[in-house]
Amino acid sequence: MKTNFYQSLFAIAFLAGFVALPAARAQEAQVGKLTGHPDQGKQLYRRYCIGCHGPRGDGAGENAPYIDPKPRNFTQATFKCRSTPTGTLPLDQDLYNSIGRGFDNSNMPSWAPLTDQERINLVAFIKTFSPRWKNDKAGTPINIPAETPVTVQSIQHGHDLFQKLECWKCHGPEGRGDGPSASTLTDSNDQPIRPYNFAEGSRFKCGTTDQDIYRIFMTGVDGTPMPSFADVIQPNDAWDLVHFLRTLQVNREGPERALLKSSGTKLQPIQASSGGGR
Ligand code: HEC
Ligand code: HEC
Repeated sequence: MKTNFYQSLFAIAFLAGFVALPAARAQEAQVGKLTGHPDQGKQLYRRYCIGCHGPRGDGAGENAPYIDPKPRNFTQATFKCRSTPTGTLPLDQDLYNSIGRGFDNSNMPSWAPLTDQERINLVAFIKTFSPRWKNDKAGTPINIPAETPVTVQSIQHGHDLFQKLECWKCHGPEGRGDGPSASTLTDSNDQPIRPYNFAEGSRFKCGTTDQDIYRIFMTGVDGTPMPSFADVIQPNDAWDLVHFLRTLQVNREGPERALLKSSGTKLQPIQASSGGGR
């Protein structure tokens, strides 16, 4: 009888610990050796983030009415920059990178002046705004194979994909963000949104490297009309598309444009009519 009592007490204690553990972990954030603590993140959030993202994390801070695009609503747990497939939660690393990078063409500043520990604490606190972080795990990052060489054939094939997959419908035939659908697009909060203008010379929201571009169209920009193409583009073809997209960045010096020039290659203008169905 006595033993039973202690046994069940032990079992209850064990179970409680077992159940509580993953929940406690979900509130934290981990990037390499850094562990983020939500309670410390909360103080920082109040100081630096609340004016835009709001006391409830729903993006309704006092500055929000004057800002376009709107601050992220953390209660939805939908994020633009992920290394994980469309629809899944990002890695802590993705959020950490976004906070350090800031978002070009938006009011979201870079928080690089904060320390690494402060930024990971903020990640941990942001995750407390949505129960999704308790019930769901981050997605598995997509695999990015080694980059293929930049060749005229690769650029040419990327050009054909841009045509066939109808990137031009939104981004425009020259990638200037002025395709036939551009003016009609709205994000998942019914706010108007413009497709990225490659010619303008601004930074992508989700990074700057060739790998980052690859990741952007293979994971999609969640919460916006920019879809994921992971189901329709093969890995090597994806590199071809990256190489072509670089040629649209007319204000950037890069090997892709240099190669077109030195080889005297003229790409056919993208035909806005002959799309091919997607
Ligand atoms: C001046 C307003 C402003 C402040 C202050 C601000 N943000 Fe933002 N933040 C934004 C806007 C606007 C966006 C959405 C940008 C977009 O969608 O292009 C955003 C987006 C984000 C995202 C979304 C990233 C993604 O992949 O979708 C995170 C995370 C974020 N902010 C964290 C923070 C943190 C942490 C702080 C405080 C240290 C902070 N922000 C302070 C305006 C702000
Ligand atoms: C239905 C419209 C639509 C189509 C089709 C589309 N895009 Fe986009 N794309 C967008 C919008 C809108 C954005 C801007 C998202 C934002 O600013 O949050 C965007 C942004 C991007 C970005 C920049 C993301 C960043 O981090 O700033 C890249 C790169 C991109 N698109 C590539 C492509 C490629 C390649 C294709 C075709 C394979 C394509 N897009 C097809 C609407 C579209």
